[in-house]
Amino acid sequence: MTTKRKIIIDTDPGQDDAVAILLALASPELDVLGITVVAGNVPLPLTALNTRKIVELAGRPDIPIYAGCAEPMDRPLVTAEHVHGRTGLDGPTLPDPQIELQAEHAVDYLIDTLRETSGVTLCPLGPLTNIATALRRAPEIAENIREIVLMGGGYFEGGNITPAAEFNIYVDPTAADIVFQSGIPITVLPLDVTHQALVIPSRVEAFRALPNRAGPAVAELTDFFERYDKEKYGSEGAPLHDPTVIAYLLDPTLFESRHINVTVETQSDLTLGATVADWWRVSDRPRNATWVRNINADGFFKLLTERIATLP
Ligand code: BDR
Ligand code: CA
Repeated sequence: MTTKRKIIIDTDPGQDDAVAILLALASPELDVLGITVVAGNVPLPLTALNTRKIVELAGRPDIPIYAGCAEPMDRPLVTAEHVHGRTGLDGPTLPDPQIELQAEHAVDYLIDTLRETSGVTLCPLGPLTNIATALRRAPEIAENIREIVLMGGGYFEGGNITPAAEFNIYVDPTAADIVFQSGIPITVLPLDVTHQALVIPSRVEAFRALPNRAGPAVAELTDFFERYDKEKYGSEGAPLHDPTVIAYLLDPTLFESRHINVTVETQSDLTLGATVADWWRVSDRPRNATWVRNINADGFFKLLTERIATLP
């Protein structure tokens, strides 16, 4: 029997975060030790509430959820209600959750867990504030982190919150810089990949047709989430960002990538939060990240739909 991969999901739901959490909880290869919540798409009280709703939708009240940082490390929070709606999870009507938040702060949970447990993969789906704060307070935890597989950044696709920056990195570039300079193995699922993972009508209808509770909920989540990006990009479907992180863990053969240097801009007003990805290896800066460039979108949606089908 192969051992399950131990992961901690750090998240700011967000409809696409919600689908990523569902995919992880539907995947027997993964041992989700806990979920840590951060402010991002909407303020922390809402991202925490949304995480509780999603874990309950998955029928997994055993998964501990920890609320973390309410503000980026050294700047005010920027949110994205224009994309995700006022609640951050507009779309389906989900019941008030019974599951409670854990009392411990997410940063304390990360430090305590990573001091005791080796070989843990971190899966950040939002701004990197919780992860960077833990690394700054307890640098020794890096030893027990197997890999950080994150959604963030963009190079060939440019940015989505500014012309130069992707949202997760832009919200807390200081935190992103700490993570990218940490020496921990990092894999990045940037906009370059997620803009190939489009929820076109046939894919959303496949979710809606599932005979369980989770399938139609995913269809309603993606229906709402799509409206902003479809208009912005003039495409038939909108990108489904965060589930690519979990899919990468489940089947890396769906992706193409290159190990390169990635540096985060932390100073310039014009390009704050840009991820300068040395794809062509023209600098002699050290390679610090695996930058994922392409995805087999049909294979990704097939995997996602099959797994969502196994949920309640
Ligand atoms: C990222 O920002 C958020 O809006 C999404 O949840 C995703 O994590 C995409 O730029
Ligand atoms: Ca997110």
